[in-house]
Amino acid sequence: MLDRLASYPRVVVELGMGDGRLLEALAKDDSSSLYFGIELDGEQCTQAQSRIALPNVAILSGSFEDIVLSFPDGSVDRFIAVLPDPQFIDEKKDERWKPFYKSVYSKLKSGGTLELVTETTHELLQPVSNEAYAGWAARLRTSFLSIGFDLANQQEGAPAQYSSRCLDQFRGDPGRIRMVTLELTKP
Ligand SMILES: C[S@@+](CC[C@H](N)C(=O)[O-])C[C@H]1O[C@@H](n2cnc3c(N)ncnc32)[C@H](O)[C@@H]1O
Repeated sequence: MLDRLASYPRVVVELGMGDGRLLEALAKDDSSSLYFGIELDGEQCTQAQSRIALPNVAILSGSFEDIVLSFPDGSVDRFIAVLPDPQFIDEKKDERWKPFYKSVYSKLKSGGTLELVTETTHELLQPVSNEAYAGWAARLRTSFLSIGFDLANQQEGAPAQYSSRCLDQFRGDPGRIRMVTLELTKP
């Protein structure tokens, strides 16, 4: 991995990339960057490996909690996390997941970015009110600012050009599943 890092000017890491369709789309349009996709589920990794045949992409099978630690500090330009599992983003579990994002922070170059797309739902699957959505997004933002990130941008929904298996499903129910994209930078 270290050899490959040195041969590209930019390094992008997708955390929990599922079947790799977003990773493929991003890497295809950005051949001067090296892309890593990390995924725990072996079946999803196999799908990603058979989908992607690009020289600037490496699929890493295993837990991103372990694999991220193997990157040198200050070596990554951009992390992308699209719809992480609740154990890595649920507001009631922040003591569980904050240490992981602290390690993400330490692996970023100065000026590097963590782009996070995540969702909230109503407990009884009713529509999420504007007030509940705003409060949830503010608490999330505060958690990441407490790690040391700056907020470069926040928008409702996922970036329009992004497609992934889960995103495409979630977009089908926009009232009850509301998403936010946070672009967080390391100063
Ligand atoms: C909700 S899915 C989202 C998948 C994909 N990003 C998408 O949008 O379709 C969360 C993904 O994270 C993966 N995952 C969960 N814990 C992980 C871990 N510790 N390390 C790597 N991947 C993990 C799951 O296997 C799953 O594919």
